[in-house]
Amino acid sequence: MKKTKITGLGRFLPPRIVINDELSTMMNTNHDWIVERTGIEERRWFTPGKETVNSMAVEASKMAIKDAGIATQDIDFIIFATITPDYFVPGNGVLLQRELGLQGIGALDVRNACSGFLYALSIADQFIKTGMYRTILIVGAEIQYSALDKSDTGRSSAVIFADGAGAAIVQATEKEEGILSTHLHADGDYAEELYVKDPGSSRETRISPDLIKEGGFNLYMNGNAVFKHAVVRFHEVILEALQANGKHPEDIDLLIPHQANLRISQFIQAKLQLPDQKVYNNIMKYGNTTAATIPIAMSEAKELGILKPGDLVCLAAFGSGFAWGSALLRF
Ligand code: UT7
Repeated sequence: MKKTKITGLGRFLPPRIVINDELSTMMNTNHDWIVERTGIEERRWFTPGKETVNSMAVEASKMAIKDAGIATQDIDFIIFATITPDYFVPGNGVLLQRELGLQGIGALDVRNACSGFLYALSIADQFIKTGMYRTILIVGAEIQYSALDKSDTGRSSAVIFADGAGAAIVQATEKEEGILSTHLHADGDYAEELYVKDPGSSRETRISPDLIKEGGFNLYMNGNAVFKHAVVRFHEVILEALQANGKHPEDIDLLIPHQANLRISQFIQAKLQLPDQKVYNNIMKYGNTTAATIPIAMSEAKELGILKPGDLVCLAAFGSGFAWGSALLRF
């Protein structure tokens, strides 16, 4: 049976750097609190009128296509993971497809938030293993800026979430390499612990002055609840991936966790007893870009020579839904 290999990676981060001190001018917070609780020193926020979710996705995709050494026309399917699409309808997949000049091929949108990239990777893996497609473009891209309540009320989310895009080209390979397994989970009991309520469809109007006043268009997060579940599920789903392949934590060459909070990554690292050089984190510079964190981190780690051919790589994520997942792959 065919296997799925990640052959190209790319990323785009909007140039506007927002340091913690700038956030203190908007809300009651400070650099030391943010670094101590999240590890974040700065993040990127988009510039309205300049970047869009799609424009960032296009840049990340072009970089991934170049990195894979393929022609754009070789792509036969697109999977776009985002919870912050440019339009309510249609999804971002078709916008990216149009921009890349790939009219006619299928384009799928995935809405699994922080786990979106892993859900997308798993879907791509199934399509490739069955022989339906040979070359798939996967993107995770988000603009969280416009969903952040930048007052004291929203400060626990506003200091964490940020904007950016990452992309991967995955291709069929006949060799014993690439994705070994993917593992997806969700528990809808916790849907409202991390969510954006509006604009919902199940009411008289989707938008009204009252709804705007209520603030349901902003991202709501019960940080403590998310944190507590995240540390358990991350660990569990990484062990699941290792067990499925007869591997142990010490076999991992590189763990790339979804960049939710540096404390969460460090907690997982300690539980798995992994040395620093086996865990890649860049949340310090980019914050939490939801579906984009894993492909951004992979692209950066590859460029830095930290993610190398032949490495046993574990990817894991947890977020809104709650949804979580992992992938084990021979890079
Ligand atoms: O991507 C996946 C989804 N997201 C996550 O995985 C995030 C998970 N959660 C977290 O990362 C953390 O829960 C937060 C960073 C959001 C919050 O950290 P915490 O250590 O859980 O803080 P807390 O909510 O327990 O708040 C501790 C204190 C409170 O003050 P009091 O009541 O002790 O006086 C908060 O009001 O810190 C206060 N606080 C802040 N202070 C300064 C909350 N947010 C801020 C802030 N700046 N931004």
